Amino acid sequence: MNPTSEALAVTPEVERETRDLYQRVRRVIPDVEWPVHAPLIAAINRLKRERKAIILVHNYMRPEIFHGVADYAGDSLGLAQFGERTPAETIVMCGVHFMAETAKILSPEKTVLLPDLKAGCSLASSITAADVRALRKQHPGAPVVTYVNTSADVKAESDICCTSANAVQVVESLGVAEVIFIPDKFLGQYVASKTGVRLILWEGACEVHERFSGLELRDFRGMHPGIHVMAHPECPPDVLAEADFVGSTSAMIEHVGKVHPRQVAMITECAMAGNVAVEFPDVEFIQPCNLCPHMQRITLPKILQSLETMSPAIDVPTDVARRARATLERMLAVGRGAARD
Ligand code: 13P
Ligand code: SF4
Repeated sequence: MNPTSEALAVTPEVERETRDLYQRVRRVIPDVEWPVHAPLIAAINRLKRERKAIILVHNYMRPEIFHGVADYAGDSLGLAQFGERTPAETIVMCGVHFMAETAKILSPEKTVLLPDLKAGCSLASSITAADVRALRKQHPGAPVVTYVNTSADVKAESDICCTSANAVQVVESLGVAEVIFIPDKFLGQYVASKTGVRLILWEGACEVHERFSGLELRDFRGMHPGIHVMAHPECPPDVLAEADFVGSTSAMIEHVGKVHPRQVAMITECAMAGNVAVEFPDVEFIQPCNLCPHMQRITLPKILQSLETMSPAIDVPTDVARRARATLERMLAVGRGAARD
């Protein structure tokens, strides 16, 4: 019997291995789904130990992945940092393509698996390396700051990378009056409002966050008076203006822990609320729900298959990887500098 067919049965062993987990996640995973998830979770956790692999999970993954199989869960910055320092030889990235590519660029000697290669990102597909070269010609001398939600080719053409967690800090670290900031126009507008630096922007947007509107949030607040509203900086400016807190996915989770609001809305991909709700049983999570079709491509059966076949593995041409790595390392150095201050 191969691991996939074994994985379909709730054996007494599976029941024992997943009992505690089930008690923790019952609130966010419907009872009828558990017999499907439990054998897969047990099989994945066994196989990852055999393969000496670690599973990195973005905050937007479904709760059965986030709580069931993650060795580390976090935002794009956290995933990049953890991927770089782990001694594991194999990383399974439960997120989208640019996250797996970033892990491979930072650790070329490791095998990095992405359970579905079609898990893309509307921001990453909005810009090419040729576009970056054209921007540089139009604005000579302006450094290029690239959001991590981009391809390795685009990072290779850029000066420094950033994530939603450190974009303001990265732009300020350059100490210049003008930068080219690609490709998220909304994150760029947010950074400009916080730094006073003139940002030359690109017409990219996240297909999930651009759907929220300030009007929708005002109506929402009317329906839930007193609700604490948090928003991701990929949202349009009228949404951010309505928010009580703006931050990366992990910053939002940390903020819930600090503020402990009675009711909260996370204006971001909505799978995340289920993940966070497990840690904060006394907080009520209510929000308009927009799902990322790319993140949702990653499922337990695909993670298991990926570990069984050790594929699909991410590959980045050596020269591109070398130049993209310099862009990422400049960003990581900014973070390390701030941690020392
Ligand atoms: P974070 O880095 O805040 O987790 O965001 C990643 C992302 O894709 C947001 O849509
Ligand atoms: Fe890209 Fe938006 Fe999906 Fe994040 S939520 S991966 S930015 S499309």
